[in-house]
Amino acid sequence: MSIIKTAVFPVGGLGTRFLPATKAMPKEMLPIVDTPLIQFVVEEARSCGIERLVFVTGRQKHAIENHFDHMYELEANLEAKGKTEFVHLVRQHLGEPGEILFTRQMRPAGLGHAVWCARHVVQNDPFAVLLADDFIDAEPGCLAQMVKAFEAKPGNYLAAMEVEREHVNRYGIAEPVAGQDLGTQAVRIQGLVEKPKPEEAPSRLAVIGRYVLTPDVMKRLHKLAPGAGGEIQLTDAIAAEIPNCPTYAFHFEGQRFDCGSKIGFVQATAHMSAKRGLA
Ligand code: G1P
Repeated sequence: MSIIKTAVFPVGGLGTRFLPATKAMPKEMLPIVDTPLIQFVVEEARSCGIERLVFVTGRQKHAIENHFDHMYELEANLEAKGKTEFVHLVRQHLGEPGEILFTRQMRPAGLGHAVWCARHVVQNDPFAVLLADDFIDAEPGCLAQMVKAFEAKPGNYLAAMEVEREHVNRYGIAEPVAGQDLGTQAVRIQGLVEKPKPEEAPSRLAVIGRYVLTPDVMKRLHKLAPGAGGEIQLTDAIAAEIPNCPTYAFHFEGQRFDCGSKIGFVQATAHMSAKRGLA
C-alpha cells in the first residue's frame, strides 16, 4: 500500500472562464461526457491507495459535497424501476463514510493558500495535490506513476510537460539542473517560477496539476508572502524547499487536457467520446 495517504483537492476557484455555466454550478462538476471532472481526479487518487481526501471548497460548491454522498430518493427511484446499472453509476464513486473531508478556503488567496487550508488533515506526512482542471487520461493514473517514483526516491514531485513558449505564462515553469538527460522521467530541478513572461522563463517545462509533496512544503506555506498575482503560490513554497529537498519535474505517461480552458475541455470531451466509441 502507498505511503501517501492524503490528497488535497483545491476546488474553491470561481470558474470565471466557464461563465455562465459556472454561475450556480462548480466548474469541477463540468462533465467529460457524463462524469464530472472532480470524479476523475478522486478516482485517480483512490487508485493509488489514498484514504483521506480533503476538498478545499468555497461558496457555491455544495454540488460537490452532494455528488459524493447518497441521494436516497434518486437511488430508490432507480431501484424501483429496476435500473440497477444506474444505481451502480450513482454509487460507485462514494467511498467509505468519513474518507472525504471538506474545509472552506474562506477567501480566494491562491493555490498555496488553498493547500495550506488542509494542513490539519495532512499533518506531518507526505501528501498529494490534484487539480481537477488538468484532465489526464493515463493508465496507470498520473498520480500513481508519481507515487511510485516518490517511493523509490523521496522528494517533491511535480507533474510536468513541455509547452509552447508563448504559453509559459499560464503555468509554473521549472528550471532543470544543467547537465542531466532531460528525456529522463524525473528531471531534477533547481528553480521554479510561477507564470513567467515568455522571455524570462527558464525553460518550457510546465507544471501540470499533480503534486506529491513533503510536509515541509506545508510548513513553508505557513510563512509564505504573496507571489505572482498577489496570491500565495504553491510553486513558491516548493521552490523555497529546493535547497533542502530533491525536487523533480515528472514526465508522466498519458494525455493531458487543460480543462481550465474551453478548447481543452472540448478536446477532452472529444477524446473521451472517441475512446468510448460514442456514435
Ligand atoms: C496552477 C499553478 C501552476 C500550474 C497550473 C497547472 O495555476 O499555480 O503552477 O502550472 O496550476 O494547471 P492555475 O491554473 O490555477 O492558474
